[in-house]
Amino acid sequence: TDSLMIKFTLNQQAQAVEAEADMPLLWALRDILHMTGTKYGCGKGLCGACTVHLDGAPIRSCLTPLSVVAGKSITTIEGLSEDGSHPVQEAWKDINVPQCGYCQPGQMMSAAALLAYNAMPSDEDIDGAMSGNICRCGTYPRIKEAIKKAAK
Ligand code: FES
Repeated sequence: TDSLMIKFTLNQQAQAVEAEADMPLLWALRDILHMTGTKYGCGKGLCGACTVHLDGAPIRSCLTPLSVVAGKSITTIEGLSEDGSHPVQEAWKDINVPQCGYCQPGQMMSAAALLAYNAMPSDEDIDGAMSGNICRCGTYPRIKEAIKKAAK
């Protein structure tokens, strides 16, 4: 397919990427824009490592064609806050959530999206919102604790 110029907002800044319209957003973020905070895990929408926000909602960037983000606003882990001080980031640090760390940008993006529309999530809310984010190290108890801390 032919390449197109696709314009969108990335972490509050205007971006234009020339690429095939069906290129996954994850590829554009990492390989063209060199925003490597968003991780490649499975490439099939199964692990959540690639989670970013599309107009505030969590999406799997490995399954999202670039054409979908045209004119929209994307936020990655790099743009969650200017200085790592988003409540989710602070709670992740305070509780030392990560083990290997690979899945954690995606975990934090899902957690931040949850808290943006549900300031006091129940255990069930947290389980529901986070079930698509897999952690091979099993940091789930600390993730849940950190989300509760960030909600306070
Ligand atoms: Fe996108 Fe696994 S890399 S869900």
